Amino acid sequence: MKHYDEIFRRRSFHIFRDAEPLTDGDIEKLEAFIKTVTPLYPDIKTETVIVPENETNCRRGGDRCILFYSEAKGDYLRNIGYIGEQIDLYLTSQNIGALWYGVGRPKEKTRNGLGFVIMIVAARVAEGAFRKDMFKAKRKPLCDIWSGETLGVGEIARFSPSAVNSQPWAVENAEGKLKVYRNNRPGVRGLLPVPLVSYFNRIDMGIFLCILETCLEREGYSFARELLSDTEDFKGEFVPAAVYAYSR
Ligand SMILES: Cc1cc2nc3c(=O)[nH]c(=O)nc-3n(C[C@H](O)[C@H](O)[C@H](O)COP(=O)(O)O)c2cc1C
Repeated sequence: MKHYDEIFRRRSFHIFRDAEPLTDGDIEKLEAFIKTVTPLYPDIKTETVIVPENETNCRRGGDRCILFYSEAKGDYLRNIGYIGEQIDLYLTSQNIGALWYGVGRPKEKTRNGLGFVIMIVAARVAEGAFRKDMFKAKRKPLCDIWSGETLGVGEIARFSPSAVNSQPWAVENAEGKLKVYRNNRPGVRGLLPVPLVSYFNRIDMGIFLCILETCLEREGYSFARELLSDTEDFKGEFVPAAVYAYSR
């Protein structure tokens, strides 16, 4: 996993101002990058497709939409979050602005038997349009989402993007293991209906795992990852998502 530095620069382009279209070269390189992306679950079929923004309901001034399709099985939402965040960071590295766009809908709702999951909107923006000081971005305090040693990882990974900035993740670090949970009550219920929150928050968890792993690697940790299923309706507050046994 590359693109650690882009965690600091990335931001959501809710509206694209003074944006330019992607060049043919940008699209070719993006298509090549998409082929190198690592899924969390290689056995879940997915397709990632680039279309013009006007082939969707999105009117944010972007140029292209990157559409994610998947088999609806197992932890497919988490898988798409993990795949898409690699692309979000890649786009930033190319000075292409991006927006995870949960309310976006494409013309094609299914593709080769796979259902549409979510999209990322993209357009070329000025180099200076990216985040200059990530630490000024609004997030929950570290102590609300992380217990135990932060490893130089927690203080960065907490800036992961999430739907309506809900930040549904929580991490416990103890005895050489990071236990990662999805907070089932992230406190943004007023903004979105409950089923939508739990749909997006499962995507958010994949985004967080992608950024968490990028940070662990940068800090020189190797790790063995155990993924825990989050497909049932869970009554408790903290739904186990993954355990990382790490060492350096
Ligand atoms: C799964 C997901 C869905 C999102 N959907 C929307 C959306 O529909 N509209 C929008 O303006 N922003 C959307 N966002 C962007 C978030 O609001 C944004 O990531 C969050 O507020 C944190 O800000 P940042 O990305 O600038 O760090 C979405 C983000 C994620 C991860």
